[in-house]
Amino acid sequence: MAGQGRSMVVLTGSGISAESGLATFRGSGGLWEGHRVEDVATPQAWIRAPEIVHRFYNERRRQLMAANVVPNPAHEALARLQSTWQGRFTLVTQNVDDLHERAGSHGVLHMHGELLKVRCTSCGEVIPWQRDHGPESVCESCGRKGDLRPHIVWFGEMPLYMEAIEGALLDADLFVAIGTSGQVYPAAGFVELARRGGAHTVELNLEPSEVAFAFDETFYGPATETVPAFVDRLLGS
Ligand code: APR
Repeated sequence: MAGQGRSMVVLTGSGISAESGLATFRGSGGLWEGHRVEDVATPQAWIRAPEIVHRFYNERRRQLMAANVVPNPAHEALARLQSTWQGRFTLVTQNVDDLHERAGSHGVLHMHGELLKVRCTSCGEVIPWQRDHGPESVCESCGRKGDLRPHIVWFGEMPLYMEAIEGALLDADLFVAIGTSGQVYPAAGFVELARRGGAHTVELNLEPSEVAFAFDETFYGPATETVPAFVDRLLGS
């Protein structure tokens, strides 16, 4: 396996935040069990019924900001890895929470957007946002009312930072996917891209993902156990 000084990409999904108290998307109790994707997470939903979309993301932001939601040992292990790793290190997340940052990671590529930001559909400004938003919300940049949307990549929209991510994947010696079901593209295809660039590939998940067959190594168990153990092994401690 690639050691210190090599180029590494880590991809995380909602499984890494599950033990911090945030629901994953699929499976029993998942976010998509209680909501129809097409009602809350598409550009069409935003045009048809923006109040439902506002409510959904306001609820999720409140959950994220609850006092009991804090980074867990898996987030912390990745922050420790980043601060110790001597080669290129790229952390890509599909998660819209800020638990990686709270654990101390920096430069995180939030390919599906961020819950603690809104975007003005009028002037394009992306604004840090920690309270509820709604049709009455005013853009701090252009002053227009009602044009602020969650800074979230919805189904049918292009994920963010794709050029940087693809470049890092093709350059990677090591690619690690953590807590993601491998059901949503383009992220589910990253393992193939990394392999094409010659990377050693590792999956850490609770159970085999849909694309588990594509990885060189797999480790199954809760992220709070598998990720710190993997990082320790990688750093040789
Ligand atoms: N530790 C490790 N893995 C876990 C844990 C845990 N404690 N709990 C759950 N998992 C795994 C599940 O086994 C599953 O494979 O995390 C994965 C979560 O899968 P999904 O719910 O599909 O979430 P994710 O892969 O992040 O979804 C991708 O889909 O709806 C969109 O935009 C949304 O970013 C999201 C994308």
